[in-house]
Amino acid sequence: MKKNAWWCSAGLSALALSLALAGCDGGAGEGGGDSGPGDPAPARDKVTKMIEELDRICREQTVYMVGPEKGARLAELVRAHEPSVVVECGTALGYSGLWIARELEKLGKGRLISIELDADRARQAREHFEQAGLSSRVEVRTGDARELVRKIREEVDFLFLDCNYSNYEPCYSGIEDRLKDGALLVADNAGIGAVGMQDYLDRVRSRHESETEWFEIDLPWGKRDAMEVTIFRKAAR
Ligand SMILES: C[S@@+](CC[C@H](N)C(=O)[O-])C[C@H]1O[C@@H](n2cnc3c(N)ncnc32)[C@H](O)[C@@H]1O
Repeated sequence: MKKNAWWCSAGLSALALSLALAGCDGGAGEGGGDSGPGDPAPARDKVTKMIEELDRICREQTVYMVGPEKGARLAELVRAHEPSVVVECGTALGYSGLWIARELEKLGKGRLISIELDADRARQAREHFEQAGLSSRVEVRTGDARELVRKIREEVDFLFLDCNYSNYEPCYSGIEDRLKDGALLVADNAGIGAVGMQDYLDRVRSRHESETEWFEIDLPWGKRDAMEVTIFRKAAR
């Protein structure tokens, strides 16, 4: 698997550097070989196998997922931020959710609420989390994320947007009240989908500290893309 190492190189902004520091350990999140408080090694190996299996299935069936480079970065961000509640809009088969939930399990805290419109995908994702031994960390909710985020009552400290570009702004607006000060917002496809999510990008870039992180990726449907990583500040709303 190709390592996503660019953010450990020189020339990073203060935001990228502060977010990256806890993750600059040589990519321990990828192989799953190290031990952590809430996750014995055998359980992690099951997750790694499931991630690799889903990687293969998604490529074969053209189920758009983040891929290993962005998946590893997501994991690093979770590790650095230590969130209690992560919300993902756009579960698909659970690929990115596995990268996130594995880190939560390693941290021994936190849970993921992942929302998927397609009932059959949501069902498959639940099975994948179950098989990976991570179902206690993840709740997959079926429905339109633009509506379901409004029903989340708890405070959220990590939001991952990956559910059709035009939905990013309504998902963000729907959950903004429950974002903790300092919450991390990560928006996938900020490179290839920038035009479609322009309203969202304008909003976070104009009010919060926000970075566009570029990735060389190796997916059948793309070779270069970005994620927008934002630190949400309540005072800047
Ligand atoms: C790019 S895929 C998500 C990939 C996933 N995050 C991963 O990396 O494994 C986008 C998913 O969003 C779902 N979706 C589209 N519109 C949605 C909405 N309004 N609410 C919830 N999910 C939606 C699609 O059905 C699709 O499965």
